[in-house]
This record gives sequence, structure tokens and C-alpha cells, in this order.
Amino acid sequence: MIALRDESEIAILREANRIVSDTLVVLAEHVKPGVSTGQLDALAEERIRAAGAVPSFLGYRGYPNSTCISVDEVIVHGIPGARTLCEGQIVSIDVGAYYQGFHGDAALSVACGEVDDLRRRLMDATDRALAAGVQAARAGNYLADVSCAVQQECERAGFSVVRDFVGHGIGREMHEEPQIPNFDTGVRGPLLRDGMVLAIEPMVNAGKPGVKVLRDGWTAVTTDGKPSAHYEHSIVVRNGAPEVLSATPRLVWGQR
Ligand code: MF3
Ligand code: CO
Repeated sequence: MIALRDESEIAILREANRIVSDTLVVLAEHVKPGVSTGQLDALAEERIRAAGAVPSFLGYRGYPNSTCISVDEVIVHGIPGARTLCEGQIVSIDVGAYYQGFHGDAALSVACGEVDDLRRRLMDATDRALAAGVQAARAGNYLADVSCAVQQECERAGFSVVRDFVGHGIGREMHEEPQIPNFDTGVRGPLLRDGMVLAIEPMVNAGKPGVKVLRDGWTAVTTDGKPSAHYEHSIVVRNGAPEVLSATPRLVWGQR
């Protein structure tokens, strides 16, 4: 069953996601060569707690940190640590915050210094794919309309969507029904309606869609070693249309 949230719950979800997007803005501003992913994570934890929230990821199924920081060929679930960023890399930052009983969740990819044309096009296409998915999240559409919109935008640009990970409903738990694939599964899925809260999160590879998870049990990398990008927004279907909960005027993504 997919939970439908009322106005008072949506108000809290806005707050949880505002904490997430504020944290993402601060982290994005700190992405530069020489900075370690562990430093970014520490900064995120500090910000989330200062806002009166708790990092959603910390301790989730034993996950050791407050953020996932996925560099270049790492698709998602990169564990922050001693790795320092280099000029030209794609740095995908994923943040979750638990606030007054509800989770916020969002992610974006940031260029470390100047990136090459392939990486820039990959990031832009993934951002556009998120925007297309968000726009399809309206009452009267089916979930598959979101999935297909995301896939179409990625493949139009010549890139491939990851199949092994999906978006999700979000609310009192970080992962709720429904699962939100970024590709056409051939199943139209549930009809979307007001009050549904969805985390839409395309993970897009420059090369083949294949994924390999490293021995740490988390780090998901491309099988071909080519770069990957990841953008995510939490949205609510409200008055028939998507409202982006994790948007911020300081740094806008997925809202073309
Ligand atoms: N945004 C990711 C997701 O929706 C974050 C999960 S990372 C984890 O699944 F470490 F918490 F698992
Ligand atoms: Co998510």
C-alpha cells in the first residue's frame, strides 16, 4: 500500500527535505581538488544535526556514514573516507535527513573543477532525465510514465540507465512503496494520486548499464569503468501536480 500524506505531514516533509537540500548546497560549494570525501561527510553530519535532524543513512543496514559520495565510475553508495577529489571528476552526493518522524532524500552530481565534454553531457542528461521524471509524476499518470520519461531522456542523449537500483516512495521510512525503476519494466504500476511522496533518482552511465558492487558491500561501480551520474529529488503529488520538496533557490536541479 502506498501512503498518502496530508497537509501537516507534507509540511514536515518539506522541512526534512529543506535540511537535505541546504546540506547539498554546502557540500557542493566544498567540492574541489584535494578535499576528501570524508571531510564532506563530516560537514554534512554537522549541518544535519545542527538543523535538529538525524542523518537517515547513518546505521541504515549497517551503512557507516551520513552521506554517499560517489566519484566518477562509482554510481551510488560510495562510502566517504580518505579518497581526495581530483580535477575533472564527477562527484555525486546523496544526503538523507530524518526530521520529526519523516525522511528527506536528495542527490546531485557536481563537477570537481572543469570536467570534459562527456562528463558534462552525462551530468546534464541525468539532470534533464530527473526533470522529465518529475514532470510525469502527476495525478492520473501511472508510475511507468515516470520511469519511461526518465529512460527516454537518458537514451536520447546516448547514455544508459542503471537497472540494478531504483527510486522509491519515502515518508516515515526512507524506503517505502512503490519502487520506481528508471526504465520501462512493461508493467504500468500504480496510478499516481495526490498525497503520494516519491524519491525519483536516475543513475545514468556513460557506457554500459552494468553494475558491480565492491567487497565493502556498498560501493556500486560501472562494470566498464566509465563515469556515472546521479540526481535525486523527493516530490509530492499535490493538487494533481508534482511539488519538488528538495528544491532550493540556491542550487536548482531537475526542474527544467
Ligand atoms: N538515496 C539513497 C537511496 O535512496 C540512499 C541510500 S544509501 C544508504 O537508497 F546507505 F542509506 F543505504
Ligand atoms: Co533515495
